[in-house]
Amino acid sequence: MAGELTGKIALVTGGSRGIGRATSMRLAREGATVAVHYKSNRQAAEVTVAAIIAAGGAAFPIAADLADPAAPERLFQLLDAELTARFGSTGFDILVNNAGAGGRATIDQTTEADFDRILQVNFKAPFFIIQHALPRLRDGGRIVNVSSTAARIAYAWSPVYGPSKAALETLTVSVAKHLGPRGITVNAVTPGTTMTDMNKVAQDPVAVRPFVEMTTLGRVGQPEDIADVIAFLASDRGRWITGQRIDTSGGLRL
Ligand SMILES: NC(=O)c1ccc[n+]([C@@H]2O[C@H](COP(=O)([O-])OP(=O)(O)OC[C@H]3O[C@@H](n4cnc5c(N)ncnc54)[C@H](OP(=O)(O)O)[C@@H]3O)[C@@H](O)[C@H]2O)c1
Repeated sequence: MAGELTGKIALVTGGSRGIGRATSMRLAREGATVAVHYKSNRQAAEVTVAAIIAAGGAAFPIAADLADPAAPERLFQLLDAELTARFGSTGFDILVNNAGAGGRATIDQTTEADFDRILQVNFKAPFFIIQHALPRLRDGGRIVNVSSTAARIAYAWSPVYGPSKAALETLTVSVAKHLGPRGITVNAVTPGTTMTDMNKVAQDPVAVRPFVEMTTLGRVGQPEDIADVIAFLASDRGRWITGQRIDTSGGLRL
């Protein structure tokens, strides 16, 4: 498929469903070969890969549960093997750290196991995925980290999720500084209330009302709203943007 990402290779974590699926589809539509990462729902990953291939694109699934600290290493073993078989090298161009763990519990309701799982999936895993990606990402490449408006908005039910995304945003600027000399841009996007399996509130017409009222553009986000911004950052048109947090919430709580 010919487009502005023709010849590029992308890894999208959590690329099989929700925002990740829309991102995988969008990058593939622009010509990138996409490694569609997922946790355990192989069927959903195969459906996404099949949809990309049916539309004329290239993709393959790759599984690793990021709640396991050994996952980044395992993920890159699988990715290396697949890329070597397809292209004869382990190099790639675009990393989208999208997979995330939610959780709605106030501080008094949060267990240490919840705390560890959310920090592991939302911060530690992206950190070590980026570390493993460093020697494989080609100069001029792209990293996009999927954060959340919960990093800046006070919700009593997100005392771990919000800070985990704030940590991811701070990591974003640090790594942007490190990779600037290689022409690799590193940015974060922050979805607001977005219609995916993870967001039960977005699916509930009554519970979602206050979030729609708080959203300047007057609706919940669709995965494609976020994917289009990620694709822009991943393209040559995004080459002069790095170390930024791009709000992709339709103006939630402006
Ligand atoms: N939806 C929202 O309102 C919203 C708002 C702000 C930010 N975000 C952020 O956007 C990102 C995507 O969220 P989404 O709503 O699109 O989620 P989603 O629809 O629930 O999709 C989840 C994807 O991530 C994978 N995944 C989940 N847990 C994983 C784990 N432990 N290890 C590896 N992969 C895992 C899933 O794989 P399986 O299919 O195998 O489970 C699937 O591919 C997350 O970082 C989230 O924090 C979402």
